[in-house]
Amino acid sequence: MSASPWSLRRLHSLDDAQIHALADLLIDCVEGGASVSFMHPLTRERAVNFWRHVAQGVTAGERALLVAEDAQGMCGTVQLIFDLPENQPHRADLVKMLVHGRTRRQGLGAALLRAAESTARECGKTLLVLDAVTGGDGARLYERNGWVRVGDIPGYALMPKGEPCGTTFYYRKL
Ligand SMILES: CC(C)(COP(=O)(O)OP(=O)(O)OC[C@H]1O[C@@H](n2cnc3c(N)ncnc32)[C@H](O)[C@@H]1OP(=O)(O)O)[C@@H](O)C(=O)NCCC(=O)NCCS
Repeated sequence: MSASPWSLRRLHSLDDAQIHALADLLIDCVEGGASVSFMHPLTRERAVNFWRHVAQGVTAGERALLVAEDAQGMCGTVQLIFDLPENQPHRADLVKMLVHGRTRRQGLGAALLRAAESTARECGKTLLVLDAVTGGDGARLYERNGWVRVGDIPGYALMPKGEPCGTTFYYRKL
């Protein structure tokens, strides 16, 4: 079996080059039509500001950030949010699963998901929760990998160009 064309690691702090590389990845996903909290067009300034905010949370231990890099640079990422109410110390939210258009459909999304689940276990978490566009690429990824579908909320969010979309909530016991 051939080795993966990418490597995965957890970052415990981010430098400026990594913040800009993650901003490029986010912009690529939003331009590709992904509903990941941002509207189109996503400016570089807003994308960089978002990752600076994430970087603060990573340094503070409020988030775990995993990244994937290939020969061309940053090609995937996912986060776990640990900064939750004090009665939920056993769980995390899984957010911002992003794979660059150039590396999709090669198993990187599944690899990031497995790595995030392992990281959550290592951090003592026993329950993960996430939401995804109903019927979208992310929803198929989570269902294929054993996440339990809780239900749909129609019209929960907007796609980057403004059309309403439903959201499906999932959980996974670790
Ligand atoms: C959702 C997302 C993360 C999936 O990433 P990915 O790396 O393409 O995921 P995978 O490669 O593991 O799986 C994607 C598809 O490729 C298929 N696949 C995986 N490895 C493959 C291979 N070696 N050869 C052929 N197909 C393969 C999978 O079966 C899956 O098929 P399906 O979509 O028809 O069900 C990616 O599409 C993305 O970043 N989208 C934009 C952002 C987004 O929407 N994120 C989700 C937020 S909830």
